[in-house]
Amino acid sequence: MCGIVGYVGTKQALPILIEGLKRLEYRGYDSAGVALVADDAIRITKSAGRISVLEQCLDHDDNAITGIAHTRWATHGAPNDINAHPHTDQSERFAVVHNGIIENYRALRTYLQNQGVEFKTDTDTEVLAQLIALVYDGNLEETVRKALHEVRGTYGIAVVCKDEPGVIVAAKRGSPLLVGIGEDEYIVASDASAILAHTSQVVYLEDDEMVRVSQDGLRTTTLEDIPVTKRIQEIEWTLDQIELGGHEHFMLKEIYEQDAALQNCMRGRIDAENGTIHLGGIADVARELTRAKRIILTGCGTAWHAGLVGEYLIEDLARIPCEVEYASEFRYRNPIIEDGTVVIAISQSGETADTLAALEEAKQRGALALGVVNVVGSSIARTTDAGIYLHVGPEIGVASTKAFSGQVVVLSMIASYLGRRRHMSQPAAEQLLSALDRIPAQITSVLEQNDACKKVAQDYVDRENWLYLGRGYQYPVALEGALKLKEISYIHAEGLAAAEMKHGPIALITDDMPVVFIATQGSQYDKVTSNIEEVRSRGGRVIAIATEGDRQIAELAEAVIYVPDTLEPLQPLLTVIPLQLIAYHAAVLRGCNVDKPRNLAKSVTVE
Ligand code: G6P
Repeated sequence: MCGIVGYVGTKQALPILIEGLKRLEYRGYDSAGVALVADDAIRITKSAGRISVLEQCLDHDDNAITGIAHTRWATHGAPNDINAHPHTDQSERFAVVHNGIIENYRALRTYLQNQGVEFKTDTDTEVLAQLIALVYDGNLEETVRKALHEVRGTYGIAVVCKDEPGVIVAAKRGSPLLVGIGEDEYIVASDASAILAHTSQVVYLEDDEMVRVSQDGLRTTTLEDIPVTKRIQEIEWTLDQIELGGHEHFMLKEIYEQDAALQNCMRGRIDAENGTIHLGGIADVARELTRAKRIILTGCGTAWHAGLVGEYLIEDLARIPCEVEYASEFRYRNPIIEDGTVVIAISQSGETADTLAALEEAKQRGALALGVVNVVGSSIARTTDAGIYLHVGPEIGVASTKAFSGQVVVLSMIASYLGRRRHMSQPAAEQLLSALDRIPAQITSVLEQNDACKKVAQDYVDRENWLYLGRGYQYPVALEGALKLKEISYIHAEGLAAAEMKHGPIALITDDMPVVFIATQGSQYDKVTSNIEEVRSRGGRVIAIATEGDRQIAELAEAVIYVPDTLEPLQPLLTVIPLQLIAYHAAVLRGCNVDKPRNLAKSVTVE
């Protein structure tokens, strides 16, 4: 969603701001803009559409050394030139970029209009720019502080003032903001990827904190003006991880990274030989967690699908009652949190607004709140009592791939850890962990089936409706396969528990409909093959994901992609890979923008 970059230093700001904006493109946006401060003026350029459009409108010789920039994902007002950020006050003394939503903007707007302020845009952000101008007392930092006291809602903001060139004031509540510290320069950003090319030293702002950066240094305070000493942290990602490096798309790069990413995720955590698991991130709460009476997993989108696999894993291996909830539903339905309830938020970005709010709700009601998060230092990671990072590296493609696999691996480690502490025998733990240890190598061999996956995409890409069916551990994989296809290729696809097909969706099956069965050998194999027969007898075109060596399935399906055998609880880690590849190739064949699908955002920071 929206992205912020701001630069104060000794270099020309514009190229640094544009490069930062491009690094934020993956988050999803519909317009972009830049404000440069110099010569007693603020020069603003903004436009709807891609950053390449903005670049055509810019004066690339502008050598201002201070500026702020933004990519906008419209919430209030259409995605046009006028509503793009930065926004200014009437006198154009201030420029503001803002992520989040100002909830009381209507009341503030009416108040300001009554004071004679005329508005140019439909945005909530302009209200903030006008409010800052109204309360201006000659000191930018003080003024922003005063204005923010009137604001309800969420924000990450960066503000400049033409009277104080060389200064950026930024603040945060509920929307991420960090400051990169370079040599004689500071880069304010909403996402580490915007600053990595310049520095890996960062300071993360907490909610209700503000920062003033200038050539004189960095000063962090609370909204109440209490000075805060911040720890400088090192971003663990490297620049090549956020670059294409010869790959055509980030999604394909990230699909192919899954073997190495999962090795990273498991490194130092599992000891297959001795059947032990070390999860340092939850060591402090291990006792409470082991005694949990109920675990609730919550998340959105792909993370929710990983949670569904987690539910099977935790009930199966740890024998603790577990349920999965969409974060957006959980937070608003007055959930019952009894003693012994543990809530685990699952999130790649660690910034998804609904997941964060669900976690806060759970904490407030007394649950032990844990996180399974990829982005270190993200809002969800900071809100939890404890948690386990995925360590799968940055995920740039909007369609989540390696993060899903990482989430499933972490959940299987949590389930085995709890199982072992509760009832699981040493040999059973050894068997499970050895199988987990083999998964990265097995993924490498599944990736070798890329051509077979591409052939499936080629053969069926012109069909507009697909079904994905699976049972047990493969049911969430069916949901995830369908989501991958629809989000990047815009083909309508539905994922179902295979047995549910006969209660309605079977009516959809015609002799032209691709039906993807995840039909690996396991406890429900025979049931799944019966479902395949039901589809075949109605003319459906069956594509099967099956276990290597299964000859029977080749007689039932038009196309088969084989995956190596593993223990049933770990099969999703292998079966999801061909589904990611089929979706990827279908999207490429249909000429879709794989990494930036229409209307979608990588990190959904609004409700
Ligand atoms: C967005 C993304 C999805 C992602 C979901 C949850 O919708 O497009 O790929 O699964 O948000 O994101 P999170 O960062 O919390 O895992």
